[in-house]
Amino acid sequence: MSAESTAPQTLYGSASNSDAAPRKPMTLHRLRALREAGEKVAMLTAYDAASASLLDAAGVDCLLVGDSLGMVMQGHASTLPVTLEQMVYHTQCAARGNRSAWLIADLPFGSYQGSVEQAIASSVALMQAGAQMIKLEGGGWTVPLAAALVARGIPVCAHLGLTPQSVHALGGYRIQGRDAQAADTLRQHASDLGAAGAAMLVLELVPSDLAARISAEFPGITIGIGAGSRTHGQVLVLHDMLDITRGPKPRFVRNFMLGAPSVLDAVRAYVHAVKTGTFPDEAVHGYTA
Ligand code: KIV
Repeated sequence: MSAESTAPQTLYGSASNSDAAPRKPMTLHRLRALREAGEKVAMLTAYDAASASLLDAAGVDCLLVGDSLGMVMQGHASTLPVTLEQMVYHTQCAARGNRSAWLIADLPFGSYQGSVEQAIASSVALMQAGAQMIKLEGGGWTVPLAAALVARGIPVCAHLGLTPQSVHALGGYRIQGRDAQAADTLRQHASDLGAAGAAMLVLELVPSDLAARISAEFPGITIGIGAGSRTHGQVLVLHDMLDITRGPKPRFVRNFMLGAPSVLDAVRAYVHAVKTGTFPDEAVHGYTA
């Protein structure tokens, strides 16, 4: 049975949309309605027009122009070398290919750490490139930035847990929030960002129970990556789930090309697995509680 024939009907159309049946454009209002309805949000990274168009056609709810492009597209060892100009370029490319998915762009390292004014100017550049929401990493010091952006009409996605732009400070790509104190700090950061108006929160590499607790408390939509199955949605790096990333991949990644006749089918299978709750599989990937 193909992924297409088992595609679930979702709140805003079938998860196997084709060009013949264009979806309604995704909005923040609709994303909130998905949370209310208990429907999982499927997100993938997209860095160019071709992948954005394909992911949109496959029913992906949200596209993330992630600074992970520095690793999977540019071949760097981290996301740190990615510049704002490069993010603007890739956001423009993805926006041209996208028709209906919600488009989020990462503020790259060095483009918002300086001041609120710098964060606003960088976010304006990404929004003018076609983003509908910007994502920034970290808690505490990012709260005034998030509040300033939201006050200016710029939707904000926060990112907590393993924040790749801080990889050197964190001592590598490792699970965050394991002990009680670290977990409490993460919960406080999430709460403060939610109060500042962040409408979405990516939780990366945190224990499943902690991600579930933050998801219940956060007023917006939580998206997990390596954070178990109890967030409101999931995200993966496209190259990881297509198994075209160089070198080893994180343990939580599933290769959706296995058994898929095409890239489109693999992405449809991902959407289907997220929507039906069969990805991620905590038993297979061994999430810590
Ligand atoms: O840059 C990126 O792709 C990300 C995801 C891993 C969430 O931030």
